[in-house]
Amino acid sequence: MGALTRAKEAIEQAERIAVLTGAGISAPSGIPTFRDPGGLWENFNIEDYATPEGFARNPEEVWRWYAWRYQKIREAKPNRAHELLAELERKKGDGFLLVTQNIDGLHQRAGSKRVIELHGSIHRARCTVCDYRTELPPPEELEIPPKCPKCGALLRPDVVWFGEPLPPGAFEAALAGFRSADLAMVIGTSALVEPAASLGRYAKHAGAFLIEVNPEETPLTPLADLSLRMGAVEGLSALLD
Ligand code: APR
Repeated sequence: MGALTRAKEAIEQAERIAVLTGAGISAPSGIPTFRDPGGLWENFNIEDYATPEGFARNPEEVWRWYAWRYQKIREAKPNRAHELLAELERKKGDGFLLVTQNIDGLHQRAGSKRVIELHGSIHRARCTVCDYRTELPPPEELEIPPKCPKCGALLRPDVVWFGEPLPPGAFEAALAGFRSADLAMVIGTSALVEPAASLGRYAKHAGAFLIEVNPEETPLTPLADLSLRMGAVEGLSALLD
């Protein structure tokens, strides 16, 4: 039996499936990744745009960057890969968990319900001082930099920057899902940013069948039972359609 056939059978039979996605799954929706050629980190400094120190130095510039990405994301549409994962969740029910590093909300827009956003959401802001949190208005109504209506302090994007902890409980819930999965899929992530990068490894060590979908090799590739050198749409179509 070929590896692809075995993987399809494993998906069919699995009662507990955990999926991790990264920027690559939204690339076919026109949203740039971070580390590919031409990716965001080639043109923007991580230290300036994705650290609390960078924000403290120049909140206006950081907000302008997030507002630009927010607008692009609002104009983007979920693609077939997002849809296939939402369909798989409907088929598998409570045994299905989707963990994403993406802040774009495209999984939810495609219909996924049980989604853990490890790195927050570009659609929200929170106060740098008090506990205020809010959905952002449409891009054209966003005043930069936005201020907290409760205490007047600066709002910040409700995302996780380098050096910051993940949202409370998010990684623990993700880890529990990956450790108890019969089958894990890791799609469109360079598997370089911890702790998300380790989730596939935890699942494999706990005995799960591990599938990776990525046009490039990653540090996870040698561990995978099947690593498809394909884009997310082509790979998930081959596995699930
Ligand atoms: N389908 C699937 N994968 C793709 C596609 C595609 N069409 N196009 C590119 N990829 C793969 C690339 O080969 C690469 O391995 O997607 C991956 C994107 O990697 P990164 O840009 O590093 O994105 P990600 O892994 O999500 O980054 C993790 O780093 O800076 C941060 O917080 C940000 O959540 C992000 C984290």
